[in-house]
Amino acid sequence: MEIFSFRKMVMMMIMSMMMMMLGNMAKCELHYVGGNKISWAPNVNLTEWSTHEHFHLDDWLYFGYDRHLYSVLEVNKTNYESCRDTEFIKNITRGGGRDVFQLTEAKTYYFLSGGGFCWHGMKVAIHVTENSAPATAPAPSKGVSPSDAAGIQFNQGLLVLIFVLMWGISSNNISY
Ligand SMILES: *[C@@H]1O[C@H](CO)[C@@H](O)[C@H](O)[C@H]1NC(C)=O
Ligand SMILES: *[C@@H]1O[C@H](CO)[C@@H](O)[C@H](O)[C@H]1NC(C)=O
Ligand SMILES: *[C@@H]1O[C@H](CO)[C@@H](O)[C@H](O)[C@H]1NC(C)=O
Repeated sequence: MEIFSFRKMVMMMIMSMMMMMLGNMAKCELHYVGGNKISWAPNVNLTEWSTHEHFHLDDWLYFGYDRHLYSVLEVNKTNYESCRDTEFIKNITRGGGRDVFQLTEAKTYYFLSGGGFCWHGMKVAIHVTENSAPATAPAPSKGVSPSDAAGIQFNQGLLVLIFVLMWGISSNNISY
């Protein structure tokens, strides 16, 4: 019985590479605001959504929405509460209806849509906490680091995982 087979060594290398990738992803998660790719919209309970999410330092937010109607503005607490869209901190809107924003400070961020839609619930407060110990739970599949706002990269970690699983199934001498 070959214990230190070449194949096993390669397998272990791939596994550790995958762990590193997952580790990196756990550090930097992408949150779809509202829960899916087009849920920056009126009448979505974004407060409910944000209270069930955990936002860590350097995570990303993804605002997907109808670009003809809505926008994304970062505002302060006062203006968030009063739905004031004129004195915003930052205009996140880029025009494509798909905006990303990185949470670079451990604080509460406030976002709302211009055009009066804040009054219809298009506002969200994001409470960002410092990164603590690495997550013990498996990294969520939605964890990717977007390098551009135009499109979200396919989850490479998932590809590697599928590849490894397929290889494991097709070979008969793999055991851990
Ligand atoms: C949204 O959800 C929160 C928490 O579940 C709840 O307190 C609040 O009333 C909801 N808001 C609306 C507009 O339904
Ligand atoms: C938010 O900004 C407005 C001016 O746009 C200012 O009057 C208000 O005091 C600010 N609130 C906070 C909490 O900084
Ligand atoms: C924010 O920026 C977008 C894109 O540049 C622009 O179309 C929009 O008018 C801006 N919104 C405000 C409130 O300035």
